[in-house]
Amino acid sequence: MNHGIKLSQHIFWIGVNDRRTHLFENLWPLDKGISYNAYLIRDKKNVLIDTVEIGHVESYFDAIDEILESGENVDYLVINHMEPDHSGALKLITQRYPDITLVGNKNTFKFVRGFFGDFKRILEVVEGDTLDLGDHSLTFVMTPMLHWPETMMTLETKNQILFTGDVFGSFGTLDGVLFDDEVNLDDWEPEQRRYYSNIVGKYVKQTQRALEKLKTVNVRMFAPTHGLIWRQHPDHIVNLYDRWSRLDGDPGVVIAYGSMYGRTERMAEYIARELILAGIRHVKVYDASKTHLSYILSDIWKYRGLIIGSPAYNNRLFPTIEALTIKLEQLHIKNRLLGLFGTATWSGGGVKNLIRFAETTGLEMVHPPHEAKYRPLEKDYEICRDIAGRMATRVKNDE
Ligand SMILES: Cc1cc2nc3c(=O)[nH]c(=O)nc-3n(C[C@H](O)[C@H](O)[C@H](O)COP(=O)(O)O)c2cc1C
Ligand SMILES: [Fe+2]
Ligand SMILES: [Fe+2]
Repeated sequence: MNHGIKLSQHIFWIGVNDRRTHLFENLWPLDKGISYNAYLIRDKKNVLIDTVEIGHVESYFDAIDEILESGENVDYLVINHMEPDHSGALKLITQRYPDITLVGNKNTFKFVRGFFGDFKRILEVVEGDTLDLGDHSLTFVMTPMLHWPETMMTLETKNQILFTGDVFGSFGTLDGVLFDDEVNLDDWEPEQRRYYSNIVGKYVKQTQRALEKLKTVNVRMFAPTHGLIWRQHPDHIVNLYDRWSRLDGDPGVVIAYGSMYGRTERMAEYIARELILAGIRHVKVYDASKTHLSYILSDIWKYRGLIIGSPAYNNRLFPTIEALTIKLEQLHIKNRLLGLFGTATWSGGGVKNLIRFAETTGLEMVHPPHEAKYRPLEKDYEICRDIAGRMATRVKNDE
């Protein structure tokens, strides 16, 4: 569908949809695919904003050729982000347009040199610098560690289009659509939140800093490197990013558990039912061996309550729950109310390590953790009911 889609009279989307890759970063499931958005500004000086993942370079080149007259040059490539899903075609672009000048900041060029070697024509920019293209001009907004050291945004001042890089991006392909006013926004929120929590979630402070900065910039449209372009409802995605980066939680509870033979699972089921009976309307139960971490993280980013269950496994946590807790520690998870439970047959190791997780993250436990021995009995279920009851009360009080 792609070519010739305009953001304004002379600004084109030249991105691609990827429905083929199974895992983004070879890690995060892409069951709805992903788009790599790139842009072309046509003026006295022609400018590319970012490239695409290298496997899609042919579509990208074709899109450029359909817009430019034959023999017309590209003068600049602005590099907002060096992750290879956007810088993949960088070397090929410099071969195709030998006179092109690369535009980036100091860190960008460290990475360019490291990945691709030296380039003669570079333009190193700092915050607030402007680049005149004729009718349009560009200015640059530095957003370090969102989510790499070199990440920046580029503002086209005539139409006030901000090219935001991965910020405000999403998993999911653009199926015949490009703009926020062409979709049902609720349909997109899960993939936007999954992208934020999986890819950018560690950098909540930097997100807050960037949102503050954006308040001082006049923007009519956000054009990220993945997903929808925001021209009607830019506030919608800003509000979501504000909530997600403050870890504000909706009133609901995620229960994530591991279980080999069903005992820990039975406790999880019991807690889920008790939460519902206590009036919680959003309870999400995940078997961490079945559901990819990516989706569990995304729901943890949405809901205020988090209950984790694990059997002991060779003196430690069950491996898929261990992976979840390690990831949450790395993401510096905060503002979540915690409940912990598990089962063991001899000296334990599951709940013990969940307690260590609570200490490391500093998350508040709503009730002391509970470990059932051999199998959960009535007395254990009673404690599960108390955990659920305390969690429900706290989650509802926070509403
Ligand atoms: C491979 C394996 C390793 C285990 N390691 C421990 C252990 O180190 N300490 C312990 O108390 N129980 C250990 N157990 C026992 C389980 O933690 C216990 O049976 C638990 O209730 C199983 O829960 P589930 O039915 O939810 O899988 C282990 C069980 C298996 C199968
Ligand atoms: Fe990235
Ligand atoms: Fe990206």
